[in-house]
Amino acid sequence: MPRERLVSPELISKDEESFNRTLRPPTLEEYIGQKQVVEKLSIALEAAKKRGEALDHVLLFGPPGLGKTTLAYIIAHIMGSKITTTSGPALERPADLMGILANLGERDVLFIDEIHRLPVNVEEFLYPAMEDFKVDIVLDKGMYARTINYTLKKFTLVGATTRAGSLSGPLRNRFGLFYHLDFYRAEELKEIVLRSARILEAKIGPEGAMEIAHRARGTPRIANRLLRRVRDYAEVRAGGEISAETTRAALRLEGVDDRGLDDLDRRFLSAIVDLYHGGPVGIEALAATLNEEVDTLVDMVEPFLLQQGFISRTKSGRKANEPAYRHLKLPLPKQATPAAPGLFD
Ligand code: ADE
Repeated sequence: MPRERLVSPELISKDEESFNRTLRPPTLEEYIGQKQVVEKLSIALEAAKKRGEALDHVLLFGPPGLGKTTLAYIIAHIMGSKITTTSGPALERPADLMGILANLGERDVLFIDEIHRLPVNVEEFLYPAMEDFKVDIVLDKGMYARTINYTLKKFTLVGATTRAGSLSGPLRNRFGLFYHLDFYRAEELKEIVLRSARILEAKIGPEGAMEIAHRARGTPRIANRLLRRVRDYAEVRAGGEISAETTRAALRLEGVDDRGLDDLDRRFLSAIVDLYHGGPVGIEALAATLNEEVDTLVDMVEPFLLQQGFISRTKSGRKANEPAYRHLKLPLPKQATPAAPGLFD
């Protein structure tokens, strides 16, 4: 059972999925941030529409929660076409994919989330579908085996992955458009929070929105989740008004600090600093100390701390950097490694 954290970039419930759907911007004009991606994509879309063609296959890559699914929906909306969504792990056999492909219309969008997790045989089945809009279906077995060549409508595949590097070369080469989504700046997250609050009819000013933005780890999904939690708190404790002070109080109660770190993040940093004198310390030792799985630490805790420069990963283990000491309000040891300024400094 994955741990449920308020500051996790992954979707944490079905309920959250439907909540996010109501907040998704339907057009590129309403999409906040990722300026370059938005501009390049709008040019590609306009050109495809002018020619009356399907948009080239698109690969979206970047950390979870930044809006890859949202962009896929916007693409379909702009093309005036239908979208079908699935994910790499959900497509277990070529037949699963065939069922979906056969139902796609001209210029429709097929969105495959976590495309790096497609089984190899499904991935190979996808190659001719992407390249020539054809698939080869093998019927029967042994001496009765026959291959039928099936022609598909010209669709657009939108693939999403957290790691472009883990995609195989042949799959990567079949995409025509590549867009990398990066963490959002606090100012952009503030705008996203204000927009979401308008849709939810929540009372919030720019100061309250900025407080949420600073704690959202560069991630719209987290910003919207925090907004929801703060809104509850404000309704019960503050007459529904989400001020900066209410936001701080609500998120303090949730254990989320002013940089968006939660208890687990702080326990992780404290363990390195207090118990291992700042490191280096092996991840197994840390996991044992914290009574957590190694995978939880590597996948759910370290990425943000690394990205913010709180820790470094070295050959001999994990080390705490200066920002970690400052954040924990602990005196710097003489040899602490300075880190590049973090995204939100
Ligand atoms: N909601 C989630 N991501 C968003 C974005 N980039 N722009 C506007 N609203 C959003």
